[in-house]
Amino acid sequence: MARRSGLILLLAAAAVASAAVPPSCERIECPAYEVVDSANGFEIRRYSDAMWASTAPIEDISFVAATRTGFLQLFNYIQGKNARNETIEMTAPVLTQVAPSDGPFCVSSFVVSFYVPKKNQPDPPAAEGLHVQRWAGARYAAVRRFGGFVADVGEQAALLDASLQGTRWAAAVSDGRRADPTSSYTVAQYNSPFEFSGRVNEIWMLFDAKDASDM
Ligand SMILES: *[C@@H]1O[C@H](CO)[C@@H](O)[C@H](O)[C@H]1NC(C)=O
Repeated sequence: MARRSGLILLLAAAAVASAAVPPSCERIECPAYEVVDSANGFEIRRYSDAMWASTAPIEDISFVAATRTGFLQLFNYIQGKNARNETIEMTAPVLTQVAPSDGPFCVSSFVVSFYVPKKNQPDPPAAEGLHVQRWAGARYAAVRRFGGFVADVGEQAALLDASLQGTRWAAAVSDGRRADPTSSYTVAQYNSPFEFSGRVNEIWMLFDAKDASDM
């Protein structure tokens, strides 16, 4: 009996840990969101008015190489390489929007983005090669969390996709993925490349929903 309730407590603790805000968001600013739903393998979030500084599409065969290229550009941007020589606080997560290509050579297209702190919204400094993306109103994300250094993003995206099948979110998520050819899915990384333990990453599939409470 005692053993069984111990197990249940353990399971409850695991469920809370997976839904909690990533630890880096206790140190640095992250975009606010509300959890609309959660189930086995996924969470549905609503983000409101988030703003991102984004690179131009980077063509590469490697997610890791493209993310590094984009991250360096954004790192220089927040260090003051921008039209106002302004330094900007580090935030999380860094997003990589992935548009896999079915053409030859397995080259995909990646857009890497930095969350613009509230303090610098709605008018962050401009910089060559960067543009601002604003999620006007609500934007929804189906989310799957995983740890470690990001390796096989395609596999994580497939697992998220599989966990959504048969749920009331499946159609809206798949419409959202079709509607945006620049992004089949997005990888969110909450740690700098120099942190080796406790890394938190997520796969996001972004979509719009008129009223999620109807779904
Ligand atoms: C930014 O710094 C550069 C080099 O120090 C300087 O030439 C430029 O005038 C500065 N721009 C602004 C807006 O302060």
